[in-house]
Amino acid sequence: MEPNVIDFINTSRDRYLEELKQYLAIPSVSALPEHAGDMRRCAEWTAEQLRAIGLENVRVADTPGHPIVYGDWLHAEAPTALVYGHYDVQPVDPVELWTSPPFEATIRDDELFARGATDDKGQLFAHLKAIEAHLKQAGRLPINLRVILEGEEEIGSPNLNQFILDHKDELACDVVLISDSPMFEKGVPSICYGLRGLAYFQIDLRGTSTDLHSGSFGGAVANPAFVLAQVLSQMKDRGGRVKIPGFYDDVRELTDREREEFKRLPFNEKEYRKGIGAPKLHGETGYSTLERTWARPTFEVNGLLSGFTGEGSKTVIPATAMAKVSMRLVPNQDPDKIAELFEDYVRKVTPKTVELKVTRMHGGKPWMTEIDNPFVQAAARAIEMGFSRTPVYTREGGSIPIVATFQAELNAPTVLFGLGTPDENAHAPNEKLYLPNFFGGILSAAYLYEEIAGARR
Ligand code: BES
Ligand code: ZN
Repeated sequence: MEPNVIDFINTSRDRYLEELKQYLAIPSVSALPEHAGDMRRCAEWTAEQLRAIGLENVRVADTPGHPIVYGDWLHAEAPTALVYGHYDVQPVDPVELWTSPPFEATIRDDELFARGATDDKGQLFAHLKAIEAHLKQAGRLPINLRVILEGEEEIGSPNLNQFILDHKDELACDVVLISDSPMFEKGVPSICYGLRGLAYFQIDLRGTSTDLHSGSFGGAVANPAFVLAQVLSQMKDRGGRVKIPGFYDDVRELTDREREEFKRLPFNEKEYRKGIGAPKLHGETGYSTLERTWARPTFEVNGLLSGFTGEGSKTVIPATAMAKVSMRLVPNQDPDKIAELFEDYVRKVTPKTVELKVTRMHGGKPWMTEIDNPFVQAAARAIEMGFSRTPVYTREGGSIPIVATFQAELNAPTVLFGLGTPDENAHAPNEKLYLPNFFGGILSAAYLYEEIAGARR
């Protein structure tokens, strides 16, 4: 690579931080309707940034939801990569637990604190700065690049699928690059070759037309809060196994080789447990913690709501109870098939004493790629150059629903070029970005484009 590209990156750090702080100041919370204007503002800011770094054909595409931002540079006799990321962020509540305001990015030691710092503005920004360094210093990119940044990843990408179907030719590429995941550990860079999928639901139970005095009516009717607890207790056995009939039918088992590789990773279970503040770990019998979170499906309750939860006491039988539940899925489970199995089972285990409504929310397919894919290997070399350490291979428990669409519709493999760390509080208070990774990530991304130029499908 031209040496001045690297110099440019190394001498631009302060400017990078100032720009990223501006980006993080826009409260682009996709889930909350009151932020619709901020979403548009953030899309415009993103588009302006794509223009500023030298991309062409930049546009903000409207969707029925939040806009999609696109830009490209297509003048190389080389493969085409599609860089995908998301400029939307999660809500900030409970905001009182933040040490500094979530939309005033603040540096403490070597970390930058703000909502979106790692998920995903900071990580996607590393690519933009690598692109900029090439275009400003070399006047060209080693490969053709398309950049597509959406504003609805955190709400399940409801409109990106259609956009990809409608623009298949314009989005044609040889490989998709995504930096929206953590590396294995601080100081242990990694390439992630698998993600879990997701199937998300809301369960509503109604017992009576209104709340009731629990003295006058208690004993005569079913209590929906209690019924909900009973229904949920039917979902998993004590060994952490999901009890929905057929749930495991399509699960691809871990290979012996994978189990060996996972065991070799520098994972300290005690540190992990302490780090998340759990008195004791719990999961499916017969599997290690990494196997449980990366390669086994689960059922989780994401939220519960019923009855009186204020201060003091109130003798009442609530009329309704609600739960948000979701299942993380692994290859080759299909979210639609799992949705049917789940709905049938909930109907079966819910007594006739309450009215039941199950609402399907978003879902996404699980994903896996081949480690020996030449683009994956190009990424491994780039990571090694940027971080001076050979990456390890991991899977992850989180989901990026659109990767399955990239594979199916664009027929392109995805490389997960994760620049985050597992302790960065994604989706939680005090989200942060480890700055050495941010700077190492910009260098790695700059190398990545060079390495891809040398790799062929
Ligand atoms: N950055 C995450 C995806 C991720 C998390 C990958 C952890 C690997 C490890 C992404 O922004 C995210 O949070 N995705 C959602 C998708 C959902 C809303 C459909 C998720 O996994 O919950
Ligand atoms: Zn996220």
